[in-house]
Amino acid sequence: MNVLVVGSGGREHALCWKIKQSPLVRKLICAPGNAGILKVATCVDVKANDIESLIRLARAEEIDLTVVGPEAPLSLGIADKFEEAKLRVFGPSHAASKIESSKVFAKNLFKKYDIPTAFYATFDDYKEALKWVEEVKPPLVVKVDGLAEGKGVFICKDVDTAADTLDSILNGKMFGDAGERVVIEDYLEGEEASFFAFSDGDNLLPLASSQDHKQLLDGDEGPNTGGMGAYSPAPLVTPELYKTIMDEVMLPTVKALKAEGMSYKGILYAGLMISGDDVKVLEFNCRFGDPEAQPLLMRMNSDIVPILNAVVDGDLSGCDIQWREESAVCVVMASKGYPGDYKKGVEIPGINNAEGIDNVAVFHAGTALKHNKIVTSGGRVLGVTALGRTIPESIQLAYSAVKAIDSDTLHYRTDIGSKALKYIKT
Ligand code: AMP
Ligand code: GLY
Repeated sequence: MNVLVVGSGGREHALCWKIKQSPLVRKLICAPGNAGILKVATCVDVKANDIESLIRLARAEEIDLTVVGPEAPLSLGIADKFEEAKLRVFGPSHAASKIESSKVFAKNLFKKYDIPTAFYATFDDYKEALKWVEEVKPPLVVKVDGLAEGKGVFICKDVDTAADTLDSILNGKMFGDAGERVVIEDYLEGEEASFFAFSDGDNLLPLASSQDHKQLLDGDEGPNTGGMGAYSPAPLVTPELYKTIMDEVMLPTVKALKAEGMSYKGILYAGLMISGDDVKVLEFNCRFGDPEAQPLLMRMNSDIVPILNAVVDGDLSGCDIQWREESAVCVVMASKGYPGDYKKGVEIPGINNAEGIDNVAVFHAGTALKHNKIVTSGGRVLGVTALGRTIPESIQLAYSAVKAIDSDTLHYRTDIGSKALKYIKT
């Protein structure tokens, strides 16, 4: 088969790395890719949102399967347009991707179908929103309806903060169209986990458990980012919780989407808040998590390509996934300054040394080749991922690889994986 992967982040590097291992794959192309993906796939400089050019590329390269990494092209309807062009594509339709691209749509779906989530209301008017905030009382969370690259969620501890936030979104149009409406919901206490399942529209094939670290700094301090590290399995998610998540969240959501006339084909990603045995959905995404995909794919023993094919062909019933016994931990190295401004074009030495360590993979995100040298080209730069017998061993191995990379211009958290340690008996 000839496979095209769309995207340029660490998630897409991990996807290419895994797909490349399949004996079913003859040609692997990534658009646009990055300096790491170049080692496993042919990178073609077509942007992930340029759907017409991607269709031309898929036709010219006789692509049998296109796998879409990021949410933006999915929310632009890449899956529908590929299908219209009679091209096989892995990823949900424009309608089904609203589960991520509209928080108002998602919350209303949860309410209609009794999917557990925080109490909420939706608003497009500042005065009405503020009245509700005063009635319900903070702490509350204000969420921009549309896609906002992880920057559209505001935890408001008091009425003044909520008023300022709502004023900038609804009156100041700080997020443009994406912020025409907001969801305001109860602040939930607990620990977050990510949960993924392949869906063919009816059947679900769940992945192993995982958790990410969203905040920039150690101890979950500092601003939210796309994710500074992740690990799998997540001991927080006990077998009982795993079943609750499938029975009360994942299966009902896929059924609900189907009942609304939008069969969900792709990978469904739930962001969950867990408190004891109580599970609530914070959000859904219509794609693999980044960086959760890196440790998950490193642990996946089965060939991923037959699973992707089964999703596209609408019958996952005969598929299963074998997981490696080992744990995996991914430490993200980001440009200093991220998620704010940062320098680009800075050389990154030491990657080869890190990659030379057994059971370590260095997945690239914001990297490019300049005069044959690997340089930074984005906020999150590398996802250094290690496979170890236990979580503590994977943590140790991942950090020994991180130290092999010169990190003068890169920032990383030093406590990735430590959330898991409290659940592990020593
Ligand atoms: P979301 O994009 O909805 O997942 O929100 C981004 C982050 O904001 C989550 O990963 C949580 O850390 C935090 N968050 C979102 N909703 C809530 C909530 N209702 N209570 C507490 N924290 C939340
Ligand atoms: N790890 C967070 C995300 O992929 O949205």
